[in-house]
Amino acid sequence: MITDIINKKRLGEELSYHELDEFFNGYLDGKVKDYQMSSLLMAICINGMTEEETFSLTKIFIDSGDTLDLSFIPGTVVDKHSTGGIGDKTTLIIAPIVASLGIPILKMSGRGLGYTGGTIDKLESISGYRVDLSDDEVMKQVQDIGIVITGQTASLAPMDKEIYALRDVTATVSSIPLIATSIMSKKIAGGADKILIDIKVGNGALLRTKEEAQELSCLMKKIGQVYQKDVHTIISDMNTPLGFCIGNSLEVMEAIRVLKGEEFGNNLTKLCIDLSTELVCMAKGILPQDAQDMVLNAINSGAAYQKFLQLVKAQQGNLDNLVVSKKYKEIKASKSGVIESISAIRLGELSVSLGAGRVSKEDSIDYGVGIELKKQLGDSVKHGEVLARVYYKKVPRLQEYEDIFTIR
Ligand code: URA
Repeated sequence: MITDIINKKRLGEELSYHELDEFFNGYLDGKVKDYQMSSLLMAICINGMTEEETFSLTKIFIDSGDTLDLSFIPGTVVDKHSTGGIGDKTTLIIAPIVASLGIPILKMSGRGLGYTGGTIDKLESISGYRVDLSDDEVMKQVQDIGIVITGQTASLAPMDKEIYALRDVTATVSSIPLIATSIMSKKIAGGADKILIDIKVGNGALLRTKEEAQELSCLMKKIGQVYQKDVHTIISDMNTPLGFCIGNSLEVMEAIRVLKGEEFGNNLTKLCIDLSTELVCMAKGILPQDAQDMVLNAINSGAAYQKFLQLVKAQQGNLDNLVVSKKYKEIKASKSGVIESISAIRLGELSVSLGAGRVSKEDSIDYGVGIELKKQLGDSVKHGEVLARVYYKKVPRLQEYEDIFTIR
């Protein structure tokens, strides 16, 4: 009985593969209702799942759809995923870098929900850019130019799409086994040989502590072993946003500046270099220093930027029409001092209030709004100096966001 399964998890007992299969596939078939699934998800959030349960659920998610066979592509195919953060446009930068070094990369990305932005929304700010490639188009493009960034096709782990949408509105996202199941089922179904996961920790991330991030890392690597996939992880900070820009068109423009080598030294560029270096080491089996030299050369030679242009052209995008709202307001320093913190979560909330992100799945996005930081952590500022520009369509209530910057 469905309620027996919920009750078992409520009591903290282990569910068998058969019970999980009956419950989750029953949900897709309409036999298990939203309120019953929500109840089980909350019980999982509170009581956790054993490794065995997590492996079973990952298999159920993978088996709910197709698995891509990329064995016809020569070389090691890599994939990368982030658990999500504010200003996280790393995919737009890393994928062209590694592809320009001859490493095929096939990235299926998602839309943003809540305060974390989605790569697909950022790409849709490029007019004409197609995010709906079919499986055949994906295969052809990765063979032709070694890079694809498209939306998750409906056939890969469709169970995750349904469950994720429900988790999002029932406060059941922040469960380590559920996050591991969700991410790993998509990555394994996506067919790459090696997978790099960027696990974010901080006030703008799903996970708040390093210990939780390490637990998630360990679990995802174990799931990888079950499927003979090499899984690497990097744990990175999400107390401060990545880079200077938050908002879709603004972030594409910033990614282009990084790819052109115009933005060295900030947290975004540093993380992109680290993640790309790790991917190159994974794919080519070379030493980190050699991999980093290749990554820096890909940026400095212009090869990474050229690969980005090739990607945009292949997916029919036109970069000439990227727009940012002409209307903006400025956030100014309330006193002189040093910037001690820039709150990622509060910037995420401001960007959603501007219309750069969605509150509910049905909301549409304003691609031209967002925030451009003018200062970084540790910068000295004078009273009245501009800290950020806020691009808007509907006048924002900036007085509600005075806590974004802490100055000491
Ligand atoms: N990203 C995902 O794809 N799934 C989660 O559960 C969390 C972050």
